[in-house]
Amino acid sequence: MADIAAGGETLVLGIETSCDETAAAVVARSADGKARLLSSVVRAQWEHHRAFGGVVPEIAARAHAECLDEIVTLALQEAGTGLDEIDAVAAAAGPGLIGGLIVGLVTAKAIAAAKKKPLIAVNHLEAHALTVGLTDDLPPPYLMLLVSGGHTQLLLVKDVGDYNRLATTIDDALGEAFDKTAKLLGLPQPGGPSVERCAKTGNARRFELPRPMKGRAEPHFSFAGLKTAVRQRANETAPLTDQDIADLCAGFQTAVLEAVVDRAAKAIHAARDELDGELKHFVAAGGVAANQALRTGLTELTAKEGLSFHAPPIALCGDNAAMIAWAGAERFARGLVDDLDAPARPRWPLDSAAPKVRGAGVKA
Ligand code: KG4
Ligand code: ZN
Repeated sequence: MADIAAGGETLVLGIETSCDETAAAVVARSADGKARLLSSVVRAQWEHHRAFGGVVPEIAARAHAECLDEIVTLALQEAGTGLDEIDAVAAAAGPGLIGGLIVGLVTAKAIAAAKKKPLIAVNHLEAHALTVGLTDDLPPPYLMLLVSGGHTQLLLVKDVGDYNRLATTIDDALGEAFDKTAKLLGLPQPGGPSVERCAKTGNARRFELPRPMKGRAEPHFSFAGLKTAVRQRANETAPLTDQDIADLCAGFQTAVLEAVVDRAAKAIHAARDELDGELKHFVAAGGVAANQALRTGLTELTAKEGLSFHAPPIALCGDNAAMIAWAGAERFARGLVDDLDAPARPRWPLDSAAPKVRGAGVKA
């Protein structure tokens, strides 16, 4: 087999099974920290969960177990490499659904034990946070908005392994709010892309909706009230025409955008203080960062604030294993490897020292 890693590069196999995507990928990292993505295979499980209207943890774990070997083989083949050639194996060890995490982590441990390769147990949130190192060659420090189905956070990424959580949601995550809004309007899951599609033909000003937390001093988020307001407007208007649904989607998305831009502006000022004016970049990542309206709103905000804006390409915004492999490579380069008894961790905050936030559903 051809040696596909150029001189001095390390090859890392990554595995992601924390929610409803089964994924494996191979990245190469040069000694000076440059990334090359050699393969990225993602298999979404949505078909398995559609009938239940949401991800069913037990079904997710079984689906990962059924196809992970095949996905790993495909990722290695696509990269033109094999288990003997890789330098380390990384798996998402949390946060996420415990059954799925165990499937991925145990597979990585088996590879590590059988092939005598180092194991890296990766924090899924850290992987989202470092993805721009892979896609944009952007090292920390930067301020980042992490918006996914499970998390909504503003994080100051100071260095690999050094994170300050400036804000989180006090109830629903933003992706969850998109998914629940889609569900109540009868749109297909995952809800984010459905709502975004419908919003294109809608009038955002027709329905009055709140801008949650707008103007508050701390940059925290809240989306449960907005979702409830959409439900109320929908009930008042029912039966809903396609135009009603489009107008509700457009109104929801605009409210989200205004709330997020307001919260991000607050966090930029806090991050500037913390970095003594050295803040230059703003990053958006996680599944919801695929939303074009959000990307446009954040591009405008950051331009006004004199920051560069970065968001991974759509394929690497949602869950994938390229980000796990890259976070693994970054940790491996710093000598941060794990023992074979590394646990799967359903909850694993990136900043365990972050001040406690009060709210109905505070996410770590
Ligand atoms: O990061 P991700 O793939 O998985 C988690 O770690 O949660 O994020 C999935 C979330 C889902 O809630 C999905 O509806 C949302 O990202 N999403 C979007 C868009 N594409 C995916 N939300 C808004 N607009 C989109 N275009
Ligand atoms: Zn994610």
